[in-house]
Amino acid sequence: MLPNYYQFYCPVKILSGQLAVSNIPFEMNLLGCKRAMVVTDKGVVKAGLIDIVKSAFADSDVKIGRIFNEVPQDSSDRIANRIAKMFKTERCDCFIAVGGGSALDSAKGANIVLSADSGNILDFQGADKITSDLHPLIAIPTTAGTGSEVTKVAVIYNETTETKMSFVSDKLYPNLAVIDPRMTLTMPPMITAATGMDALTHAVEAYICLQKNPIDDIFAKTAIDLIRRHLVHATEDGKNMEARMAMANAALYAGIAFSNSMVGMVHALAHALGGVCHVPHGVANAVLLPWCLQYNIPKVPEYIAELSGLLGGAGAYLKPVEQAEETVLLIRNLLKKLNSVSGIPQKLRDAKVEKDQLSEAAQVAINDGALIYNPREVSYEDALGVYQTAF
Ligand SMILES: [Fe+2]
Repeated sequence: MLPNYYQFYCPVKILSGQLAVSNIPFEMNLLGCKRAMVVTDKGVVKAGLIDIVKSAFADSDVKIGRIFNEVPQDSSDRIANRIAKMFKTERCDCFIAVGGGSALDSAKGANIVLSADSGNILDFQGADKITSDLHPLIAIPTTAGTGSEVTKVAVIYNETTETKMSFVSDKLYPNLAVIDPRMTLTMPPMITAATGMDALTHAVEAYICLQKNPIDDIFAKTAIDLIRRHLVHATEDGKNMEARMAMANAALYAGIAFSNSMVGMVHALAHALGGVCHVPHGVANAVLLPWCLQYNIPKVPEYIAELSGLLGGAGAYLKPVEQAEETVLLIRNLLKKLNSVSGIPQKLRDAKVEKDQLSEAAQVAINDGALIYNPREVSYEDALGVYQTAF
């Protein structure tokens, strides 16, 4: 059934293929750019991935003006200011962010600083505060999970107030997302599994949440199908180019889906576990996804049931609730397989969570904005109950 009203927007040009990075100089010309600033971290440099980017510029009339390789785990206002200053000094005219969410957020943050007369990033916090056009931004993800190459959000840590600031604006969409499987080949098994489960969570939550729409549904379903067929292979054998390519695409489709539909209680509960117990985002989602789906079955059994076929189920003649239960079981089985090839935790107790931290996490979770889009309301007791089941 079509919703009474919905919106869909994704202005990002996508290049996907085994040599996609090689086309960046050509695309820079199309964008009217001559000198790029590369924003990345030391791990990406060490893995040899910046060499792949550099080699694309070998015989090119456009250049890399500067490589900034000091992006920390969480992008901050101080780093954004530093990058913006270098960008000006080096007379760069576009950004190439290479890495996970933090590299991209740092480039987005620097871009916001450059657009502001005041140079004060704090003026643009919140939704739709950025009005001037930003410098072109090219995103090259080196993990297959966050989907941030196709989202309009930046999260920047404020070092003074020690809080995370969110920036949401259509101006923050990258101009170009470059999906090149060579850039994800070096990801270790545990990160491959965790980021892949993050992508699965994006797709599943986009498909069942209150703001779902028929265009996002297509992206979400395609992502789930790819993840079911390729995530275990990519985790088992990191050099499997076909599996890497499929997972990088799946993460992108899931990113498009959730950036329009939004997510739900899995992300709310995972954010809280990240804050209270420092559980990595993908690991928290992986462990919580089946239990949160189970919680949502009474409200949206049909939507959850519709995913079972994509996950390898054969329950087409089951009742919706039974088929939805099958979906939950199939996701638990996927996590079990991933655990056997990567060691990814299946329970919160194996992810260094202490039982006495659960009540604090539940308190944080019920105030998380992602819960607004969850199909079933979640109280403190409900959140605690799901944590205890997943413990
Ligand atoms: Fe996520």
